[in-house]
Amino acid sequence: RTVYVNGEYLPETEAKVSIFDRAFLMGDGVYEVTSVLDRKLIDFDGHAVRLERSLRELDMGVPLSKDALLEIHRELVRRNDVVDGMIYLQITRGAAADRDFVFPDPEEVPQTVVLFTQSKPGLADSPAAKTGIRVISIEDQRWGRRDIKTVQLLYPSMGKMMAKTAGVDDAWLIEDGYVTEGTSNNAYFIKGNTIVTRALSSDILHGITRAAVLRFAREAQMQVEERNFTIEEAQQGDEAFITSASTFVMPVVEIDGVTLGDGKPGPKALRLREIYLEESR
Ligand code: PDD
Repeated sequence: RTVYVNGEYLPETEAKVSIFDRAFLMGDGVYEVTSVLDRKLIDFDGHAVRLERSLRELDMGVPLSKDALLEIHRELVRRNDVVDGMIYLQITRGAAADRDFVFPDPEEVPQTVVLFTQSKPGLADSPAAKTGIRVISIEDQRWGRRDIKTVQLLYPSMGKMMAKTAGVDDAWLIEDGYVTEGTSNNAYFIKGNTIVTRALSSDILHGITRAAVLRFAREAQMQVEERNFTIEEAQQGDEAFITSASTFVMPVVEIDGVTLGDGKPGPKALRLREIYLEESR
């Protein structure tokens, strides 16, 4: 596989990053995941805009223009012959001479930029979309700036492990009694013709897929309520689903052991998945 590191395209075995890189030592970096379907990037613009925002919120510079980033994404898709899959992009504050909590002078320490691809043939036809996924709820113990897409993913990883140990697919995170989002996705339930999902704030990541799906839902004459909701309310919904760049719209059929509807993916969630996949390709 060919990867991109700081201006160079290299075989993955030759790509190197310093052990002093601040993402390695301190989780001081941001990332984006963009899907590829039929060799085309999905929602690239949205991811590029959010990346710049994440960088600015952490007082990091923007090392590459949107056009330059787009070109790197396209080049990696070509070089690795990615038909379906994803591109991972990470930008860190770079490698200072010593470990230090204080940010290094950006004039002296260049940022680290890394991109790589992962092929996932048939990504849009995921079998999970046909059965739906099952989730449990766990306490949200992440930091308070979840609107910034940082590489600090230890708690979300632990959450996935808790789900795995419980024999289900994923976890929804609960803060002060209300669902924030999934470990790596935004969370929704549907009651009647209304989709409910948490409003945007620093409590959740402002999902690029979320923005597109809510727009398509409104265009399809569905009501959208952006507000807090509890697990109990979601369990009483007709349907539930999650969204993310890697899963698109994924139906949820069970929450904390309670089956939704007939236990099959709901028609509205499946319709939104279909619309999203049609419109964004
Ligand atoms: N995760 N919320 C969290 C905590 C996320 O990590 C993600 C994305 C989302 C959905 O955002 P988007 O629709 O822009 O992908 C919501 C990516 C896919 C990941 O970490 O792999």
